[in-house]
Amino acid sequence: MDTPNNETKKTVLSFVQASGTPTLGNYLGAFKNWHDMAAENDCIFGVADLHAITVRSEPKDLRRRSVEMYAMLLALGLDPEKNIVFLQSHVAEHSQLAWVLNCYTQFGEASRMTQFKDKSQRHADNVNVGLFTYPILMAADILLYGADQVPVGDDQKQHLELARDVAERFNGLYGEVFRIPQPYIGKKGAKILSLQEPEKKMSKSDPNQKAFISLTDPTDVMVKKIKSAVTDSEAVVRYSPDKPGVSNLMTIYSCCTGKDFAAIEAEFAGRGYGDFKAAVAEAVAEELRPLRDEYEHILADKAYIEKCAAEGAQKAAYLARKTLRKVMKKVGFYQI
Ligand code: TRP
Repeated sequence: MDTPNNETKKTVLSFVQASGTPTLGNYLGAFKNWHDMAAENDCIFGVADLHAITVRSEPKDLRRRSVEMYAMLLALGLDPEKNIVFLQSHVAEHSQLAWVLNCYTQFGEASRMTQFKDKSQRHADNVNVGLFTYPILMAADILLYGADQVPVGDDQKQHLELARDVAERFNGLYGEVFRIPQPYIGKKGAKILSLQEPEKKMSKSDPNQKAFISLTDPTDVMVKKIKSAVTDSEAVVRYSPDKPGVSNLMTIYSCCTGKDFAAIEAEFAGRGYGDFKAAVAEAVAEELRPLRDEYEHILADKAYIEKCAAEGAQKAAYLARKTLRKVMKKVGFYQI
């Protein structure tokens, strides 16, 4: 029987794409809260390597980035003993359920996905069908595990909505097969903007390297990027919509030190941006140092990574198989 604790715990599921090292923005916006989230829920986290091949990359790069992202998930504090942390391609049921769900998704509704429209413009030379069915694979990721809650950024909300629609349609035809997932509303992270164009979100795919801080940037690189962040000519540390660069640095400083904006304004009253930026750089370096140390430590231990990934895949496959079996039966595949 379930312990009282298990009855109240929710299954929280998310996958991250291995398309490059996450940024300080990803960290302060989401990852920093994962520790609490993992303590309060049953978490299933995956590296979305199947999704990654919708964009062409060198096989060795895909392999390296997948392992790096896996190590990053562990370094961020997802305990592989208590949670399920795995690589999507290690569990064949994702592709299998995605095929079934393809047949329960309308061409029209998939065509409405704004990310598909964006991406097919950006990768006009490779508008493959995988890019189109990407959200359906994502629906399979979610529905295989009966996830209650899915932490998603704004860009993935529409995909979660599609997963819910497809699940409801399927349940309407065959009975309660899938749990209907909800967006996860956790402690809200901060929205961190580009260091060079503080009107845009900080993004790891920004062509300007100075616009973002990668979680694995060496300290001196990180410090240089913060020192060259765009500010304004007023030379006053004040939080204001017409000072987006300074306000962004204040948000970063606040997240790393716990100080509120009023305290930060007081701390730097009468001092210039040089002092302020030096303090921000130091706070960021302090904040990220333990994470980077842990990440490097894990990444150097390939045997540990393999052991965790194998166990994660095994635990995931057990759950995924149960759901897929139910689905196959409902649809009418001949069972042997
Ligand atoms: N598409 C998501 C992204 O790019 C990654 C993803 C794949 C995902 N499968 C998922 C997120 C399932 C949440 C749940 O961020």
